[in-house]
Amino acid sequence: MPKAVVIFASKTGETAEIGNLIAAGLREAGCEVDTFPADSLPGDDQLQTYAAYVLGSSVYNEQMLPDMDEVLTRLSRLPVQGRIGAAFGSYEWNEEVPGQIHTSMERDCGLRMAAPALALKPPMLGHMEEQARKLGRTVGKMLPADQ
Ligand SMILES: Cc1cc2nc3c(=O)[nH]c(=O)nc-3n(C[C@H](O)[C@H](O)[C@H](O)COP(=O)(O)O)c2cc1C
Repeated sequence: MPKAVVIFASKTGETAEIGNLIAAGLREAGCEVDTFPADSLPGDDQLQTYAAYVLGSSVYNEQMLPDMDEVLTRLSRLPVQGRIGAAFGSYEWNEEVPGQIHTSMERDCGLRMAAPALALKPPMLGHMEEQARKLGRTVGKMLPADQ
């Protein structure tokens, strides 16, 4: 069964909720999924084993949370090039940060991005929950069953 990881940087739980919905979509597509807060990652031995990486952060002071910056730097040093990626985030007025995560995943980590970044503005409504699940399913369907 292909294995994916969802990593989120979240202060008050909004981005964590989106991450959990994406994880549910990945499971619907037949993947095994680990989820981690960005400040509680496993060691490199485990972190480099996933077939797909889904990374998200909320926006504070026009930037992603520092923990997500650190995740991106760490991933860029691991041999994950060519694996599948997707980015997400929650915001109040500046929806650019998820796109910045997307760009860094592609450019700095060499991931193959499955879809445009998903930027959601809480409160989470039903159609947004479905968008998050759908992103998970989209990523999941790109993974070969034997990975
Ligand atoms: C102190 C503070 C600063 C914020 N700065 C921004 C910002 O610069 N741009 C933005 O779009 N949203 C900003 N927000 C809104 C949060 O990004 C938004 O509420 C988000 O959903 C929180 O997600 P989280 O619970 O995962 O941290 C800010 C919120 C707070 C409390």
